Amino acid sequence: MKYNFDIVHNRKNTNSVKWDLLKRLFGREDIISMWVADMDFPAAEPVTEALRKRIEHPFYGYTKAGDEVVDAVIKRIHKKFKWKIRPEWIIFTPGVVPALHTAIRSLTHPGDEIILQQPVYYPFFPSVTLSGCTIRNNELKLTDYQYEMDFTDLKNQFLPKKGINSKPNRVKAAVLCNPHNPVGRVWSRNELIRFGEIILKNNAVVISDEIHCELLYRGYKHTPFASISSEFEQNCIVCMAPSKTFNLAGLEISTIIIPNKEIRDEFNYIREGIQPGPNLFAYTALEAAYNDGDEWLEQLLEYLQENLNFIKNYIKKNIPLIKMIEPQGTYLIWLDFRSLQFNNQNLSSFLTGKAGLGLDDGFLFGESGSGFARMNIACPMAVLKESLTRMKKAVDELNHNPG
Ligand SMILES: Cc1ncc(COP(=O)(O)O)c(C=O)c1O
Repeated sequence: MKYNFDIVHNRKNTNSVKWDLLKRLFGREDIISMWVADMDFPAAEPVTEALRKRIEHPFYGYTKAGDEVVDAVIKRIHKKFKWKIRPEWIIFTPGVVPALHTAIRSLTHPGDEIILQQPVYYPFFPSVTLSGCTIRNNELKLTDYQYEMDFTDLKNQFLPKKGINSKPNRVKAAVLCNPHNPVGRVWSRNELIRFGEIILKNNAVVISDEIHCELLYRGYKHTPFASISSEFEQNCIVCMAPSKTFNLAGLEISTIIIPNKEIRDEFNYIREGIQPGPNLFAYTALEAAYNDGDEWLEQLLEYLQENLNFIKNYIKKNIPLIKMIEPQGTYLIWLDFRSLQFNNQNLSSFLTGKAGLGLDDGFLFGESGSGFARMNIACPMAVLKESLTRMKKAVDELNHNPG
């Protein structure tokens, strides 16, 4: 079956966070929405077909993950990444973000510290602070228009903070984002080893958010953190989901894999009675996507690659003042607007007011995101072209009317 990702669908008035909050978020309705990580493509036909079939059995009572759902996850992870997981390691949650909050609460006491690598997906911040912990920022370094981990700084995060009242560090975990949102890095095996060795040597746990692990550009390979060694496996919480890969975020299901029984029991203890499992449609969708969604996914990845090539060439040729950080994975593009020399507020109003684009402001991802914005290119090519035409026009007008 050939999927047609070129069709522009109207998603307004469907209670879509991406398309039905434009006035509230950006002040106008005629914005092209390119912020939240949700794709403007219909789901794979096998997923819709499975949901249709499930709806025809009109009993929507309490539900659980059947063996076939667990089996679909185990097979998928082995097929894609050669990582063998056991059924009892899997916990289904309604999302990765609720799982992060749960994970941090289960590993810490108030006053403890968590390492994040900024700029990073901004819901990570409240998962630390609302758990009563503080953030230690192991800033990513931008070199030659690619981001890298700063391992020297990472080691230093475990030293006591400087000052007369310096106390031992209270770092209990580091949250890894792989592939990284928003900078698009697919961390290499070597980088993961260096990262993991530092964290584990300091008796902390790695929470590895791998939600974008199947959205990779040509030539890149994802390595699940836990698959590297049994020591890594025993000291981490891995978060995966079909939601980004198959565009199912509204169905709310993610797969949290915790090989270490003690860590898993603590995680379950914290969520017990508070965090429900996914709903029955979510399980149906996951199973269909993982078992029968690959034809759609292969075509989607081809399409995203085309979109990426297009934006890369367009910006280089037509808006050279803007720099694109080339992603290795994810459909989220990190754009550098610093040469326009706007402050945060002005960049934001330039993008919405002048260009008519709804991007995610870079400063939301941490201080070092100032001057950047994140753009979601998982849309039909015609929409991408229109958004870039708008961006070029806005930048050109700026050059004609400086100040
Ligand atoms: C890195 C990362 N983690 C988690 C999420 C959201 O996960 P969920 O919707 O399962 O809570 C996103 C969504 O964009 C993301 O980019």
